[in-house]
Amino acid sequence: MSIMPTRPRRATLAGNRVYLRPPKRVDQQHFIASARASRTLHGSWVRAPETPAAYAAYVARYRPANASPIHVGFLVMRNEDDALAGVFNFSEIVRGVFRSAYVGYYGFAPLVGAGYMTEGFALALDIAFRQLRLHRIEANVQPGNARSLALLERIGFTREGYSRRYVKIAGRWRDHVRYAMLAEDWKIERPRVRRAIGSGR
Ligand SMILES: CC(C)(COP(=O)(O)OP(=O)(O)OC[C@H]1O[C@@H](n2cnc3c(N)ncnc32)[C@H](O)[C@@H]1OP(=O)(O)O)[C@@H](O)C(=O)NCCC(=O)NCCS
Repeated sequence: MSIMPTRPRRATLAGNRVYLRPPKRVDQQHFIASARASRTLHGSWVRAPETPAAYAAYVARYRPANASPIHVGFLVMRNEDDALAGVFNFSEIVRGVFRSAYVGYYGFAPLVGAGYMTEGFALALDIAFRQLRLHRIEANVQPGNARSLALLERIGFTREGYSRRYVKIAGRWRDHVRYAMLAEDWKIERPRVRRAIGSGR
């Protein structure tokens, strides 16, 4: 991982195998095809934009238009071929005495399961804490979502609580496990995560 992107005209932040950049309107076709190919993977956990209108709404919401955005989204792109590996979205950014946000994410088939989301998460946290200057990132996951819980544990999030009937998904209020990463946690976890993904210090 390096702060200087290997693809200066395109990357927001680049790692060994993937880079992050904001979603753009021109990604529409690639994104929708990836979302449709990932329906089984996403199951009832997440719903990625699958229509041009939904994708346009996503870009409008998550592509920062000013220096203090409320929502910021990133596509995880594979370095070698610009294949779309996944998405990280920071939502409801609150500044002032909070400096907090929620993170949401999903990978795309067939690239998921090869470590790209783990590396992408490390890059996303570097952006959250170093560029956006946030202090707390929260992630809420349904108790049965083993892959997502494993990803949070792998990255070093701390389990803080359990929120009953937290989000209404597909017509039902679903319990969620609440995890958080603080800026000071990431300083400790970052070297371990970088070693695990083969990015050295
Ligand atoms: C949640 C989700 C993003 C997790 O993705 P993932 O596949 O676990 O993450 P990665 O792509 O980083 O792959 C990790 C795997 O690659 C392996 N790996 C290989 N090379 C690696 C490397 N260099 N670095 C890190 N991991 C590597 C890891 O050991 C891990 O293996 P395992 O699957 O045997 O445990 C994915 O399952 C998903 O999109 N789920 C549906 C949407 C969803 O639930 N979103 C979250 C809602 S809260």
